This record gives sequence, C-alpha cells and structure tokens, in this order.
Amino acid sequence: MTTNAQLLFNAIPKGEPTSDSFKYDTSSTIDLEQELSNGASIVKLICVSLDPYMRGRMRPAEIKSYSPAFELHKPITGHGIGVVIRAAADSKYKVGDHVYGTVPYQQYLFVPGQQTVDEETKKFLGPQASLRVIKNEEGLPWSAYIGAAGMPGKTAFMAWKEIADAKKGEVAFISAGSGPVGQMAIQMAKADGLKVISSAGSDEKVAFLKELGADVAFNYKTDDAKKIFAEHGPIDVNWVNVGGKSFEEELEFMNLHGRIIGGWISAYNGQSFGVRNLFQFVAKRLMMRGFIVGDFETKYVDEFYATIPKKLAFGDLKFKECKYTGLENAPKAFLDMLAGKQSGGFGKVFVQISDDDTA
Ligand SMILES: NC(=O)c1ccc[n+]([C@@H]2O[C@H](COP(=O)([O-])OP(=O)(O)OC[C@H]3O[C@@H](n4cnc5c(N)ncnc54)[C@H](OP(=O)(O)O)[C@@H]3O)[C@@H](O)[C@H]2O)c1
Repeated sequence: MTTNAQLLFNAIPKGEPTSDSFKYDTSSTIDLEQELSNGASIVKLICVSLDPYMRGRMRPAEIKSYSPAFELHKPITGHGIGVVIRAAADSKYKVGDHVYGTVPYQQYLFVPGQQTVDEETKKFLGPQASLRVIKNEEGLPWSAYIGAAGMPGKTAFMAWKEIADAKKGEVAFISAGSGPVGQMAIQMAKADGLKVISSAGSDEKVAFLKELGADVAFNYKTDDAKKIFAEHGPIDVNWVNVGGKSFEEELEFMNLHGRIIGGWISAYNGQSFGVRNLFQFVAKRLMMRGFIVGDFETKYVDEFYATIPKKLAFGDLKFKECKYTGLENAPKAFLDMLAGKQSGGFGKVFVQISDDDTA
C-alpha cells in the first residue's frame, strides 16, 4: 500500500478562510498494484488549480449555489492534470495518457470505468464532467492546461466570444488583469482591436499588464480609478473580475450600450457591497450577462483546444503562472491567491503535486 495524501475540507470559514479551513492528511493509502477491471484506471496527479470560485464551495451543504459545496472532512475538488499510471485492458485511457478534469485533491485517483457523477455536479460541470485526454502536442508545461489552456483561459475565451460583442476601436476595462482570466481577457480584447484599460494590486502586476498589451494599466490601491476612466474611457466592455465598490465607480464611466461580463471576487468572503447607481443600466442601456464557463463548453471547446494551446506555445498569447510545490502548501497557495499576495511571483496559482516521470 502507498500513502495517498489528501487535502481535506476541514472547517467552514466565517469571512476569510484560514489554513485551518483545510487539513493536509496522510492517513489514506492506495494499492497501486491492485488488479484493474471494468475500464478502471489509476491516475497520478501532477498539478491542481486554486481558483477564486472554490471559496464559494466552502459553505454549508444546505446553502445551494451553482457549484456543489465541499463536503466536510472529504478531499476538496477542483481542476487538475494527472497521468494515467495503470489502466485495465478495457479502459478508455492508456498508461501515459495525461488527463484533465475535476478531481479530488490527492496524490492518486482510482478512476472507475463508469464515472458516476451526482446530479448537482453534473449540472455544475456539464460536458466537462469526465476526464479529458490532453495530447499536448504543443509541449506546454502541464500546468498551462489548468490555467491559460484550462478553465480560466476558457472562461475568458468563451465568454469574450459569446458576450463581449466587441468592436474595433472600443474601450475595454479588465480588473484583476494579472490573474489567469484577466490575462486572457486583455489579450482577447487587444486581438479584437480594442483599447484596453486594466487594473491590478501591485506595481509589478501593473508592469505585466502592459507587457500583455494593456494600453492603460493602473494599481487600484494607489491610483485614482475615476480619473483614469475619465481620461481614457468611456468603457464599452467591462470585464468585471472584482465587482463591488469598484463596479459602482465603473458604472459611472460606462458608455451607452456598454456590455458587462465577469466575476465578483470582492464579495467572495462575504463582504457584499450594495451598488447604488444601478439606474445607469437604464440611462445607458447597459447589458450585463451572468454565465458559468461550462455554459459555453459545447459551443467553443473544439475551437479553444484547436487554437489556444498553439498560440500559447508560439508566444502569440502570453501567460504567467505562480507555482507552489507540494499538496501540503495548497492552503497557502489558495489564501495567497485570494488576497493577491502570491509568494514567488503572480499569475495563475497552482500546486505541483508530483513530477511527470511516468509517461
Ligand atoms: N463565471 C465563471 O464561470 C468564472 C470562471 C472563472 C473565473 N471567474 C471569475 O473571474 C475572476 C477572475 O478569476 P481568476 O481565476 O483570474 O482569479 P485571479 O485574478 O487570480 O483572482 C484573484 C485576484 O483578484 C484580486 N482581488 C482579490 N480580492 C480583491 C478585491 N477585494 N479587490 C480587488 N482585487 C481583488 C487579487 O489580485 P490583485 O493583486 O490584483 O488585488 C487576487 O490575486 C474571479 O472573480 C472569478 O470568480 C468566473
């Protein structure tokens, strides 16, 4: 038997999560030599993603949302990439295949031939519910497939195409521009010929927004956003990653018929802000559309995998990642990501669990 370390959901946080919200547990084991039948396989996880939406899953199970609540004292789940190290003769996976999908955060996964997914999870994940084989002919680092070429990249790519209705010469504003969604959204907007304004929480991040092509980039902690919008706006497409009080300011500077897309990270720890100028929606005929990335999977997934990994590999699209090593460091990675205080860099936060030495 081999130790199968797991990251358990340990306690429901009130407000900001802490390291006690999780427990790194090494008491589970797995038999890596077990006989496999009925399409089963064993996957060794290489890396897992830490994403803002996971904060919303740290809630009591009776509170319903678009994503299922994490189960207390069970491994948390999220996006990961692993390599198949054992497979039954009738498995749809082969040893050496790399697979991407929603996984429990532990070193090894036993994957049954028939992956059963409960209704709530199926509704949340839609067509992404089973593991997808990633060929990686582009030779990207595997972590890219949970970032720029994974769920956050898909979020920006698919929602931009579906909702932005972008026209050359318009102005886009993208908050939290240095995160994986923001990075891709900035580059999508530039590719469509828009002028891009973007914000982030440190001067180092702001310099990176300019590298990504942002025409105007500012540090929302030290710069006057309203002054910047007055000078460089009005905003036609507002990619709202942050929301809350800053959204109230942004509404003032929206252009007639502006479109609004995005997330609301400013409220994920429960500090909801009541936006007071919603009449701007009427006055400016604004359109805001909520979405969850899985909504667009069927329509755009083939185009996404056919284009984005290549562009990332050739450098036509840039991406920046922030690596933490070891599953035991996942709580720190998650807390740092939420707070914007990533250690050793910034960008898409992920945890490297193992090296890919089996393929
Ligand atoms: N609808 C969907 O399907 C979907 C899918 C994926 C993501 N999203 C949403 O897209 C947004 C971006 O996701 P991401 O993965 O790219 O995350 P991310 O940008 O890496 O998110 C974390 C960053 O947001 C900034 N932030 C956190 N709290 C803030 C606050 N109160 N005010 C201002 N900035 C704050 C911090 O960076 P700074 O240093 O810049 O402050 C932090 O590092 C999130 O809202 C996420 O929930 C939606």
